[in-house]
Amino acid sequence: DSQLRSDVRNDNSPLQIFVKAKKRINDIFVDIEKYVEETVEFMTSLQNDRNIVTVEEAIKVKAYIDKIRAIKDVLKRDHMKVAFFGRTSNGKSTVINAMLHDKILPSGIGHTTNCFLQVEGSDNGESYLITEGSTEKQPVQSVGQLGHALCKEKLCESHLVRIFWPKEKCLLLRDDVVFVDSPGVDVTPNLDEWIDKHCLDADVFVLVANAESTIMVTEKNFFHKVSTKLSKPNIFILNNRWDASASEPEYFDQLVKEQKEVRAQHQERAVDFLSRELKVYSPKDAEERVFFISAKETLQARMQEQRGQPAHNGALAEGFQNRYFEFQDFEKKFEECISKSAVKTKFEQHSQRGKHIAMKIRQALDEILERTQKMRSEQLNIKKELHDKLNFTEQQLMLLTQEMKDKIHHMVEDVEQKVSKALNE
Ligand code: GTP
Ligand code: MG
Repeated sequence: DSQLRSDVRNDNSPLQIFVKAKKRINDIFVDIEKYVEETVEFMTSLQNDRNIVTVEEAIKVKAYIDKIRAIKDVLKRDHMKVAFFGRTSNGKSTVINAMLHDKILPSGIGHTTNCFLQVEGSDNGESYLITEGSTEKQPVQSVGQLGHALCKEKLCESHLVRIFWPKEKCLLLRDDVVFVDSPGVDVTPNLDEWIDKHCLDADVFVLVANAESTIMVTEKNFFHKVSTKLSKPNIFILNNRWDASASEPEYFDQLVKEQKEVRAQHQERAVDFLSRELKVYSPKDAEERVFFISAKETLQARMQEQRGQPAHNGALAEGFQNRYFEFQDFEKKFEECISKSAVKTKFEQHSQRGKHIAMKIRQALDEILERTQKMRSEQLNIKKELHDKLNFTEQQLMLLTQEMKDKIHHMVEDVEQKVSKALNE
């Protein structure tokens, strides 16, 4: 049990790759925003000063502030999205509940989930839902209430209901993972609409298959369609209800042997589907994407633990421990995969845009610098011309004065001569 309890993870979770990258890129945009604001201020001051910058130029740079703020807004809403698909009753909703450590989504026999349900974290401990096309927050306290709220709405199967659940209640929600639950792929004629509406921005897909049968054509078709619209989607295959395999045969030895055979068969088919049919993984990598689990047992165990009780009361089916570990192993691989994939698809775009804006601002500043340098050298030329002119005038003046002096001197001499001559006479 102490080992089971260790599943309360800490901040070494692979999801932190995404969380940290998001913080980092947000900080960078805060810096870029400051830098552009300063540039605008500087340009406005130059505009008033001798028209070095034109009004149009200042407006163009100012527009980048709005662009940066828009990117920051998108960034705030960026998350990691995982979507679950599979036939009705395979246990999609139960798998999500097990990952959330709580019964949040309605589950049950028969066709339970009627439309797309998205579970995401809410701040301030609030739990509520918002139906498509509405902005009204409908408070939900319990699963029963949620089921009721979902029934009373007339919902189309491709509609989306967003369920907001307190972030503090689950590490995955806190770390920006968003879960999408779907109705069974066997109950819809609208697979294309589903994909266009709900799948194009998903980082990871989970096929919840039933270990009691093999993967069905409807399930395969769905993923064939997905992989025509998305290049190399990340897909995990969960063979759920693996506990059922433990309750059939009467003799233990026979059970172990049969389980091994069934497992090998499912594994081979799943790997073949991912590698040879969909071509999304090599056969070796595909091996790492197939798991045999029991969502029902895991959910039960986790709810027991939440209440401070041991994970199981001893009355569980043979092999519970292994199935529980395999579920945890799936979660670990899933977290690594979704975190890396989301960083790449979501932040690569933002960082390209950030680089582009920084480059444009630099260009604008370079142009201004060039212009002022030109103005300066022009002024220097003017000064030089003036200087030359002055020199010339000065020389002229000097010559002139010298001439005058000489003239005056001669005149004076002449006058003196004349005066003394007159005196002598
Ligand atoms: P829809 O919403 O109708 O498409 O079904 P779903 O795929 O969401 O299945 P859901 O989670 O509602 O589970 C269907 C039934 O199977 C419920 O009664 C679950 O308790 C049960 N179930 C789910 N997972 C397991 C499992 O691992 N083992 C067993 N024995 N039962 C399970
Ligand atoms: Mg369901």
